[in-house]
Amino acid sequence: MDAVNLPVGNLLAGQHALVTGGARGIGRAVALHLAQAGADVTVADLRPEDVESTARAVRQFGRRATAVGADVATDAGRRAIVEAANSGIGSIDILVNNAGIIQIVEPFAMTEADWDRMLGINAKAVFFLSQLVLPGMVERRRGSVISLASMAGKAATGVNSLHYNVSKAAVIAMTKTLAHAVAKSGVRVNCVCPGIIDTEMWRQIDREQGQRILGLAEGALIDQRIAQVPLGRAGTPEDVARVILFLASPLADYMTGQAINITGGTITY
Ligand SMILES: NC(=O)c1ccc[n+]([C@@H]2O[C@H](COP(=O)([O-])OP(=O)(O)OC[C@H]3O[C@@H](n4cnc5c(N)ncnc54)[C@H](O)[C@@H]3O)[C@@H](O)[C@H]2O)c1
Repeated sequence: MDAVNLPVGNLLAGQHALVTGGARGIGRAVALHLAQAGADVTVADLRPEDVESTARAVRQFGRRATAVGADVATDAGRRAIVEAANSGIGSIDILVNNAGIIQIVEPFAMTEADWDRMLGINAKAVFFLSQLVLPGMVERRRGSVISLASMAGKAATGVNSLHYNVSKAAVIAMTKTLAHAVAKSGVRVNCVCPGIIDTEMWRQIDREQGQRILGLAEGALIDQRIAQVPLGRAGTPEDVARVILFLASPLADYMTGQAINITGGTITY
């Protein structure tokens, strides 16, 4: 009989994952999924108390966890995160660039400060944190980077979040280039493109775009957008976390440079 090597249990045993923006939402779900699959996890976020709560939840799976309160948008913050990860648990095998922000602002009202803040957190920080972590992965010839892009980086969505859309297109572009830069070492670099995922970020969009700009009732904008999703519902943080777990794991050993949609079928390219 032919051998089938399908390591579905303890997929990430002995691995160390760093998850940014892990205090809540998608980042928290990712940290818990990776822990459940056997990984030790360093969780970083601006919110020190909430990030500690995620770390406690990781430990409940019997895994080691380090919590870091730091800002990915600054060089000092990124170095503090990597230093805490290395000294707390050890070298990093999986990097999930998840920290991100949204802002609703009409294109002609957008300031340079709005643009710089958005690109600084959502795009520049993803590249420079990857730049801190990838050389060690290449040296060890093992590792996986997964970044949070968005459907907004591919499709024309949200005229009032142009800079967000640009930042996510930048994540897709840097994923493809970085993937090729390190491919010979076996290190993989991918990103995911979620659609509407039920988190605080979507509640902010509902408040700022739905209620403030369009004058809709609370929740009405979300309902309108969900009505356009072929699978007929919003995604959950867990829907995204399962795909990231797959990409982080040996199950995806032959995938790199990809931008995977998690949109309930909303976009198909
Ligand atoms: N929710 C969605 O529909 C959706 C869709 C596509 C992509 N995404 C992306 O997924 C990622 C997570 O989104 P979410 O919906 O869970 O959002 P969220 O707002 O619930 O969580 C984001 C987390 O990132 C942290 N963070 C923000 N700026 C930071 C910084 N400078 N340094 C460190 N931490 C920082 C926040 O404190 C927060 O805990 C983001 O990159 C977002 O753009 C979300």
